[in-house]
Amino acid sequence: MRPVIAFLGLGSNLGDREAQLRTALERLSATPGVNVLQTSSLRETAPSGGPAQGPFLNGACKLATTLSPHALLSVCQALELAAGRQLPAQRHAPRPLDLDLLLYGELVIDTRELVVPHPRLFEREFVLQPLQELGVDVAALPRPERPRRLEDPGDFAALCSRWQAGGCVVGLVPTMGALHLGHQSLMQRARQECDRVAVTIFVNPLQFGPGEDLAAYPRDLAGDLRLCAEAAVDAVFVPEAGRMYDPAFCSHIAVGSAATTMEGALRPLHFSGVATVVARLFALSRPQRGYFGKKDAQQVAVIRRMTEDLGFPTRIVECPIVREADGLALSSRNVYLGAGDRQAATVLFRALGSAQAQFRAGERDKDRLLACARAVIAAEPRARLDYLELRAEADLQPLPPGPVQGGRLLVAAAFLDGRRPVRLLDNLSLVEPV
Ligand code: PAJ
Repeated sequence: MRPVIAFLGLGSNLGDREAQLRTALERLSATPGVNVLQTSSLRETAPSGGPAQGPFLNGACKLATTLSPHALLSVCQALELAAGRQLPAQRHAPRPLDLDLLLYGELVIDTRELVVPHPRLFEREFVLQPLQELGVDVAALPRPERPRRLEDPGDFAALCSRWQAGGCVVGLVPTMGALHLGHQSLMQRARQECDRVAVTIFVNPLQFGPGEDLAAYPRDLAGDLRLCAEAAVDAVFVPEAGRMYDPAFCSHIAVGSAATTMEGALRPLHFSGVATVVARLFALSRPQRGYFGKKDAQQVAVIRRMTEDLGFPTRIVECPIVREADGLALSSRNVYLGAGDRQAATVLFRALGSAQAQFRAGERDKDRLLACARAVIAAEPRARLDYLELRAEADLQPLPPGPVQGGRLLVAAAFLDGRRPVRLLDNLSLVEPV
């Protein structure tokens, strides 16, 4: 193999920093297949984040290597261990030696263990300056878009399969955009649990019925991308409708009993459209984990069923409802509530809460619990109730009349006084902590 020029970042903030860096460079030079060509000057850098600790000594070195990038990474990790670095180390913990593979020729690598060019290279002056000193034209390096934005389904599928080939656990967060903190909580959960996180933003025409708000659905791509960047999302897939569905597209998923009542009764093709788009997204990205909000509890039940029935390799992760301080569940459609309706919309959470309080006080009769919630809604003239149900927690199937041990209350109501009618959904478990 012909030698490749690679650059390593050097850092230390524990013990005799300079001696440790010098030893590491000597050991690197003595490694077969590695030839250290040049070393930058060292500079002091304040630590960023983590526990209280001393300043770093940072620099970089240029080497010619016949080792593969992963083999070079292993050499670096072995040197870090030899210098006494504890593994697994707490993130941002002080360390005797830190060796980062910054650049490896012109290669772009995106695997679980190794991302090259180094993902935080452009955010760090203490890396950029030494690289410049070593003759790297930093301005000419390809600056990765964060998050990466894709419009073509083929590109999105290729990216996800490259990630998976590199050993990454991929988490998918499907959305229709107009993102808020509820959506962001899904991204944050995915960020904690996955190596790569992709958000999809697509206002899916298949799930809107005639006369529904497809054309008026709120859109704010710039704001959405900001929110995704804040949550350190890796990629955002924003297809146009024409790219998502071929003009000849005609395969729709029919969904069964989970989708015929409540939302399904009011919006007959809605869940078929949801299941179809989610299946299409799962087929493109084949994520190990898919993140959905409990806010749309019936939707999660439909998606769980579909995922199992069609055999997608995806674990469905259900995330708690994010609410405003006054209890209103965050929803993209809340922006369309008139001021009076915004105030009145808290009635949904109040109604569910009052039935929950009755349950806590010992009431077990299903109809009396529902009557209690219904009375709260009836007292709010701005709310037009669509349905209020108490269903089994596990699968949202109907419960027989009589005593209940628990269950989930689900409600939907319309508010009609804003710029356009707004339908809102909410739900609460009878046994959920307040
Ligand atoms: P959308 O309404 O944009 O919601 C995307 C995801 O965010 C859903 O899983 C939803 O349950 C979750 N979510 C919305 N508000 C939330 C809140 N306040 N707290 C927690 N999670 C919340 O649901 C859809 O889009 C679409 O039907 C979709 C699944 C993307 C298919 O088109």
